[in-house]
Amino acid sequence: MAYRVLSSRVAPSSSSKFSSRFMFIFTLSLSFTYVCYSVLFCSAPVMPSSRFEEQRCARRDSAGAKKLLQRSAACTETNSSQSKLGDTAVPLRTLSLNRSELTRTQGAGARGADASRSKTGNASIISASAQRYGNKKLPNALIVGVKKGGTRAVLEFIRIHPDVRALGTEPHFFDRNYDKGMDWYRGLMPRTLDSQITMEKTPSYFVTHEAPRRIATMSQDTKLIVVVRNPVTRAISDYTQTLSKKPDIPSFEELAFKNRSQGLVDTSWNAIRIGMYILHLENWLQYFRISQIHFVSGERLITDPAGELGRVQDFLGLKRIITDKHFYFNRTKGFPCLKKPESSSTPRCLGKSKGRTHVQIDQEVIEQLRDFYRPFNVKFYETVGHDFRWD
Ligand SMILES: *[C@@H]1O[C@H](CO)[C@@H](O)[C@H](O)[C@H]1NC(C)=O
Ligand SMILES: *[C@@H]1O[C@H](CO)[C@@H](O)[C@H](O)[C@H]1NC(C)=O
Ligand SMILES: *[C@@H]1O[C@H](CO)[C@@H](O)[C@H](O)[C@H]1NC(C)=O
Ligand SMILES: *[C@@H]1O[C@H](CO)[C@@H](O)[C@H](O)[C@H]1NC(C)=O
Ligand SMILES: *[C@@H]1O[C@H](CO)[C@@H](O)[C@H](O)[C@H]1NC(C)=O
Repeated sequence: MAYRVLSSRVAPSSSSKFSSRFMFIFTLSLSFTYVCYSVLFCSAPVMPSSRFEEQRCARRDSAGAKKLLQRSAACTETNSSQSKLGDTAVPLRTLSLNRSELTRTQGAGARGADASRSKTGNASIISASAQRYGNKKLPNALIVGVKKGGTRAVLEFIRIHPDVRALGTEPHFFDRNYDKGMDWYRGLMPRTLDSQITMEKTPSYFVTHEAPRRIATMSQDTKLIVVVRNPVTRAISDYTQTLSKKPDIPSFEELAFKNRSQGLVDTSWNAIRIGMYILHLENWLQYFRISQIHFVSGERLITDPAGELGRVQDFLGLKRIITDKHFYFNRTKGFPCLKKPESSSTPRCLGKSKGRTHVQIDQEVIEQLRDFYRPFNVKFYETVGHDFRWD
């Protein structure tokens, strides 16, 4: 329309083809410039300002995540007064000044992904305040097992949630470090607000005889998460890990059987023993109700991480914030990864060792082990009220 009005006024009917073409191009470029400006000026304020700052600042430096955090902190700091969150400008300042101490938990929690974007500002503020003002508390929830089940993945995925703060390392308190005392244990924990859940994971708890009693002594209300996986695959994965550290160990077959032709499985070998889930579970059930224990399927954690995390969030009494928007599947690795947090230059996949290729085991050996585990599995399904379909 603008074109027609302009051309009819400036270029009367007698004008040459040249000038009308010129007018057309001129108007077109004007419109284009206008569109560009509109996009620039309208879209910028719509973006949550803290995210915007971070992205802008992060681009300057593509070094490691830690460096990036510090760098973006400095940027946010100088410009926190421009914050478009208005009232939240003061907490934002606190956030930025103390950003360098923030752990990865908050990095992921605060800058999770699309689903929680509308909450981004609040989440960071809450986390940052927790870092400074919260208290160290004994954990409310523990991932107690099992080794090679996918416990690291569950911890890394659940800690995206802004209401979860987790210890990144395995404290081994209820197995190896119990004599150091509860104060030592509490001291390891991240600071949390009252509304936040404190978590840690140590997979060896599940097979430690004293662990359930000790945890019940800490609190009988502790929520327990166990990531379980087909015990045969688990054993092979466990062996693969050991083999990568000690290449001289005997073959899997030699370790798994006392006498293979007789089908005598060596249940004293840890890689075999851990997978006899029902035996360990019975020990836990002397101290905890089954409803206090949530079982995550290690298989579904890979095929449907959002579904499994949904159930974990329900179990912990958390709002479902972690959804499939947070994950993508890396086909090379055959493993789900977390989408790129805005603050970091790389997406967060688990370490190289996770999802590593297993050693090749004779199919007959696998069948023998399946037969061995079957009765234990059946009893386990009955007790937890869920069929994991490992047969
Ligand atoms: C950040 O914003 C403040 C307040 O508007 C301004 O004075 C300061 O120059 C800005 N700093 C940078 C680095 O742009
Ligand atoms: C940042 O945190 C540290 C330690 O928690 C605290 O001592 C310091 O006062 C904080 N800085 C600001 C500016 O709030
Ligand atoms: C989040 O921030 C907005 C804007 O500052 C505020 O209106 C809202 O109450 C906050 N929500 C929470 C849960 O703090
Ligand atoms: C395994 O059992 C068979 C049959 O009883 C026996 O002949 C063989 O010596 C045993 N092998 C080992 C290594 O014990
Ligand atoms: C997928 O995993 C492979 C192997 O670990 C890695 O090299 C690659 O960068 C990953 N790709 C993506 C998109 O994460």
